[in-house]
Amino acid sequence: MDNCSPKEAAARGALETFKDLISRSLVAGVGTGTTVKEFISVASELLRGKRVLSSSLSTSLELSSRGVDVVSYPAERRTVDLYIDGADEVTADGHMIKGRGGALLGEKILAYFSRVNIFIVGEDKLVGRLGSKGPLPIEVVPEAYPLVSEELSSLGFKAVAREGSGKVGPLISDLRGMIVDVYTGPIERPEDLEATLKRIPGVVETGLFLGMADYIVVGKEGCNYEVLRFTRKTKAHFM
Ligand code: 5RP
Repeated sequence: MDNCSPKEAAARGALETFKDLISRSLVAGVGTGTTVKEFISVASELLRGKRVLSSSLSTSLELSSRGVDVVSYPAERRTVDLYIDGADEVTADGHMIKGRGGALLGEKILAYFSRVNIFIVGEDKLVGRLGSKGPLPIEVVPEAYPLVSEELSSLGFKAVAREGSGKVGPLISDLRGMIVDVYTGPIERPEDLEATLKRIPGVVETGLFLGMADYIVVGKEGCNYEVLRFTRKTKAHFM
């Protein structure tokens, strides 16, 4: 490989390592973000002709611009063979924070229903504890936001409705939830936090992806990469 950034190294490394698996997959899910964009650019030829499910509108547009047709979620009972995505923070035991790109719900649905999950990250995403680098994104039913935010504050968390992306007002995801950033600081027990947040009515999903990775490809300086293997804990029962 010639010179490339850690995220490019992760994308190329995933293609090199999993080329056979990707070729054999009939239904592939694709996540969101700049690392995924790198992957689409190197793997578009392989993705063409597959049933590709997209986690967000931005990924659908990226895929179509490269001649990859996106299909809607299957109506019949059919699993996703393979899912590939980036992440915002990754720990040594394979837990992740996702959603800083605002697509966590679409991403979690595809990751949960996929047989094999591959995440690709630059080494700058590795952390000792989740929540060390930034807030935890969650997706909230817009109407419930004032109540959810009060509840989060009474639990000791500052929660801020994300704004921006060229729009005045809160960021609404492609699946119509409000993206809210929860300032947790470094998270000591991510499973407990996940359970606490999911107990609040109006919280649709959180950006904690715990036990969802089969592989994480970590891209490094100098176009190097490392493939980490994990035992997946969270997957659909019918797979
Ligand atoms: C979007 C995500 C992205 O996967 C995450 O933000 C990583 O993005 P990037 O590859 O641009 O750093 O979770 O909701």
